[in-house]
Amino acid sequence: MSEVTHPNDLRKTLDALDSESRLRRLKTITNPLRPQVELEGTRVLDFCNNDYLGLSQHPRLIEAAREATARYGVGTGGSRLIGGTLDLHTQLEAALARFKATEAALVFNSGYQANVGILSSLINRHDVVFADKLNHASLVDGALLSRGKVVRYPHLDLEALEKHLRNTPGGKRKFIVTDTVFSMDGDLAPLSALSELADRYQAWLILDEAHGIGVFGPHHRSGLWEETGLGPKANVIQMGTFSKALGGFGAYVAASRDVIQTLIQFSRSFIYSTSLPPGVIASNLAAIELVQENGDLTQALWDNIRYFESQARQLGLDIMLSSPIIPIIVGDDSKTMRFTQALLDAGFYCQGIRPPTVPQGTSRLRLTLSALHQHQQIDQLLACLLPLLG
Ligand SMILES: Cc1ncc(COP(=O)(O)O)c(C=O)c1O
Repeated sequence: MSEVTHPNDLRKTLDALDSESRLRRLKTITNPLRPQVELEGTRVLDFCNNDYLGLSQHPRLIEAAREATARYGVGTGGSRLIGGTLDLHTQLEAALARFKATEAALVFNSGYQANVGILSSLINRHDVVFADKLNHASLVDGALLSRGKVVRYPHLDLEALEKHLRNTPGGKRKFIVTDTVFSMDGDLAPLSALSELADRYQAWLILDEAHGIGVFGPHHRSGLWEETGLGPKANVIQMGTFSKALGGFGAYVAASRDVIQTLIQFSRSFIYSTSLPPGVIASNLAAIELVQENGDLTQALWDNIRYFESQARQLGLDIMLSSPIIPIIVGDDSKTMRFTQALLDAGFYCQGIRPPTVPQGTSRLRLTLSALHQHQQIDQLLACLLPLLG
């Protein structure tokens, strides 16, 4: 792909993308009533949304947002440090720290802003970042912005990671950075082993729990780190989002008091942005209370994950699921988009994902499951999907 050098080149660039089946198009949803949505006028079943627990339309969250909006208004009118910190923000941060069992927590406006803000403020050009090759784009961008040396190790390859750690001079500060649940593949980072490596090589471990919170954690569903049973550690920084299983919007960092204080001083995406509105903060607070009180939705989600897996296997699809994210690798870009369209025509919204979001040659349907899907709807999807795969 040639680079854009002049406005006249824009059309050429877009046409070239289109001819390569790489042009991205926005599809508009009207009237979502999950797991069904009306997509450009047609009612379809949504199998690509990250609202894993269906909380985006939960009455308790809607009521919390409504009440907070009525009481505080629709916006805060300021950044967190200049008049934009409401008692709601501090309540949410205290609740998060308890949920995550960390000393402190801080709310960011989005997961993208959190990752860019965390990495660019904690890491400097003398440091080394060790990043899994399939990390989310926001971690990639944060690492680049930090100006530290970035070493990308092959996906989940801890031997390669250890070799890089071993070969890095002792005086260098080291940061291991990984998704816990990989957003496009649904597989899991081996957190206990990563923590052990971080301890052995005196490195920080930065975890992106965007797809972990609400889905993993034997007691409180606070994320995949909870499954390690290791509890809070001074060198572990957990970020995550409210925008997926928690149904809302925004992100958080849970870590030691010193890490949080440092982010407040130096994290530009935290400092230079108007704080999240009251309604959003209140519904986020309601969401973390709800998942801690009641595991039924998480249980229903896992029931659907196991159901999809067993039915697909019976029908001859060789898959093992670790999370609600199901990558169906097609490979070819245009074929992937043809499958997306064929499924849409059959009443299923399963967005195709192409490079650069995923590596070249691995275009895929990225299916997701929700606690709200019925077994019968999963059966219907499989009945349409499997003939396509041949
Ligand atoms: C792993 C991961 N990290 C970060 C983000 C960014 O979060 P947000 O959508 O809140 O910006 C996403 C998804 O969007 C993600 O999948």
